[in-house]
Amino acid sequence: MPRVDINAPVLDQTSPARDIFLLSVAAPGIAQSAQPGQFCMLDAVEGNNLHDPLLRRPLSIHNVTANGTVEFLYRKTGRGTALLSQLKPGRKLKILGPLGNGFTWDSSKSYILVGGGMGIAPLLFLAGELHKTGNPPVIILGAATESDLVRIDLFQARTMEQGFFTATEDGSLGHHGLVTEVLVSLLDQQAHQTGGADRRGATVVLTCGPFPMMRAVAAICRERGIPCQVSLEAHMACGSGLCLGCAVESEHDAGYIHVCREGPVVDAEKVQW
Ligand SMILES: Cc1cc2nc3c(=O)[nH]c(=O)nc-3n(C[C@H](O)[C@H](O)[C@H](O)COP(=O)(O)OP(=O)(O)OC[C@H]3O[C@@H](n4cnc5c(N)ncnc54)[C@H](O)[C@@H]3O)c2cc1C
Ligand code: FES
Repeated sequence: MPRVDINAPVLDQTSPARDIFLLSVAAPGIAQSAQPGQFCMLDAVEGNNLHDPLLRRPLSIHNVTANGTVEFLYRKTGRGTALLSQLKPGRKLKILGPLGNGFTWDSSKSYILVGGGMGIAPLLFLAGELHKTGNPPVIILGAATESDLVRIDLFQARTMEQGFFTATEDGSLGHHGLVTEVLVSLLDQQAHQTGGADRRGATVVLTCGPFPMMRAVAAICRERGIPCQVSLEAHMACGSGLCLGCAVESEHDAGYIHVCREGPVVDAEKVQW
């Protein structure tokens, strides 16, 4: 998978909600080879000649377009993302990517995407690719409150009829509660309609969100024999397998998963939850 390290011009930056930013850059070399679930390391400091990898921040590829635009959707949380959020069109930023392993799928299965908080970011690109294959996914998105659920019209356009669900903790949009509750009721409904066991393996859950949410999603899937892929997060310095700083414990004493190299997307069964 070819990766590039480029100075990409910023095309646009908007803020669809408080502290959430949508950054568009011209990066055809990344757009052409990126797979949903992969990420880039971004350096907001123009002319950073120190080559300080600690200034780079990992962000998932939110979307790509045919004309070579790459979009990132992120929450401003600290120094790096605050610097990124100040970038105006015309400025350049250093981007290394695409990195890591993304989600995998095939046309014989049906997919349920479960996103929580900023974990919705990589799922738009994924939903778009599944939609293109003629196999649109069911999508369940959750957040604390309605305003955190951004770009939902785009998600809706990439799902199947009656295949889009939301959950908010304050009840401001969709189900009042957690995404996992929506997932359980959907899977139970599906099992009831199909007689359960004979459809095992036909549905796959692909998820990204806070660790406790993914742990709950993984447990729900395990109980039902449903394959599940999770997109892990870890603090990253290099993003390319050199510093070994992004280790997450793997299941059955099998050592560590280095999120930037083996992930960020891995089979949920490989993770020590
Ligand atoms: C593969 C991957 C994809 C990601 N995709 C997105 C995305 O699409 N949208 C989004 O909003 N966020 C995403 N994140 C989280 C994002 O990288 C952090 O929010 C960001 O690095 C915070 O940097 P900061 O300097 O603003 O915050 P600070 O808290 O000041 O960061 C200090 C240090 O901690 C690291 N860090 C802090 N929080 C995280 C975190 N949650 N994950 C990894 N490193 C962290 C930073 O990289 C930095 O080295 C992703 C993380 C990973 C690993
Ligand atoms: S971030 Fe350096 S090895 Fe993964």
